[in-house]
Amino acid sequence: MKPVRVGIVGMGNIGKHHASYLRAGQAPQCELVAVCSTSPDKLEAYKPLALYSDPLALFKSGQIDAALIATPHYQHTTLGIAALEAGLHIMVEKPISAHKADAERLVAAAHAHPNQVFAAMFQLRTEPRYLKIQSLLKNAELGRLTRVNWINTDWFRTEAYYSSGGWRATWKGEGGGVLLNQALHNLDTVHWLFGAPSRVRAFCKLGGYHSIEVEDEVTAYLEWPGGATGVFVTSTSEVPGTNRLEICGTRGRLVLENDRLTFTRTESDVLEFSRAAKTGFGKPDMWNIEVPFTNAPAQHATLMQNFGEAIRDGKPLLTPGADGVGSVELANAMLYSSLTAQTVEFPLDSSVYEAKLNELIRDSKFEKKVEAIVNDDFAKSFRR
Ligand SMILES: NC(=O)c1ccc[n+]([C@@H]2O[C@H](COP(=O)([O-])OP(=O)(O)OC[C@H]3O[C@@H](n4cnc5c(N)ncnc54)[C@H](O)[C@@H]3O)[C@@H](O)[C@H]2O)c1
Repeated sequence: MKPVRVGIVGMGNIGKHHASYLRAGQAPQCELVAVCSTSPDKLEAYKPLALYSDPLALFKSGQIDAALIATPHYQHTTLGIAALEAGLHIMVEKPISAHKADAERLVAAAHAHPNQVFAAMFQLRTEPRYLKIQSLLKNAELGRLTRVNWINTDWFRTEAYYSSGGWRATWKGEGGGVLLNQALHNLDTVHWLFGAPSRVRAFCKLGGYHSIEVEDEVTAYLEWPGGATGVFVTSTSEVPGTNRLEICGTRGRLVLENDRLTFTRTESDVLEFSRAAKTGFGKPDMWNIEVPFTNAPAQHATLMQNFGEAIRDGKPLLTPGADGVGSVELANAMLYSSLTAQTVEFPLDSSVYEAKLNELIRDSKFEKKVEAIVNDDFAKSFRR
């Protein structure tokens, strides 16, 4: 069977990366046939592929079966819907939209086109380390989940990064900062592993350490319906930064840090032990398990290959697009909690949040400085 003909829309950092592995044949179910950017200077290098400066012309061209939307976030919704309406399958970059109301619009459009595949680029879901955690949770190896703590502060970004695009780190162009861009990957992982929380209270620093108007440091407290609590901390301002995910249950603790996953397992259920113990300071016996894992070889290519297989063979998607609402909602809820100094209950009212975001856009006095970066090593931004 012929591979799926793919066109990429948005040839910036990530668009170029997608083009590079697709052209190298790393996702053989997908053939890159066209690229599209509103910056024409980004296109010449891709000849003899079909080149487009207007995404709608590409969608209607008949040259592609699927669009990979890799533009700034707000356009994920508008272009995603336009591509679906033109009869195309879509792979949308993260976040699937800048806010929950837009994400719902995109998901509704996908539901209206049930024979077209809608996937989202959440490449951390291909990482064996998270798949191992998912399997341990599924098998209740940790007993009942009690606490999650993710310190996720190794997303350092410089002033030059923020100045590199007019849309970046503005309410109007991006709709948020570290939550919606860098840590969105981790919020997707939180939502995928633990489900939607019941409430969140967060504290965000807006332009705390950079000349930006959106958040660059966040501390959030979460509660889940099952009673577990959590803390999620993220920042683009720290060096060296930390990436430590700690998951506690009534049968022990899992820690993912420095490329190691360790499971300290208790011999018995901690709460049962506590209730039965006749002395005050005893603890259940414990043992340490080093959980082995490899690294995913080519995260983005794996998801594009899966996308192609879903279109061609009906294979289940690793990252269904509709799942993307969860991480957008988490990011929006954290920001809303901080902006309004209140605890936010889930589900977040998407129209209330959209109104708040529009207010931020309307009231913005921020003057954005834009300066292109030449020859940056974008692959350094990928994380596990
Ligand atoms: N999955 C990942 O690993 C990953 C990594 C980086 C970025 N991203 C996501 O990809 C998106 C783009 O990020 P980036 O860093 O590549 O941005 P970028 O600014 O480097 O590139 C965006 C490109 O889109 C083009 N563009 C804007 N509007 C367009 C339109 N209507 N039609 C066609 N082209 C248009 C711009 O000209 C620009 O070249 C963001 O949503 C970001 O969150 C994902």
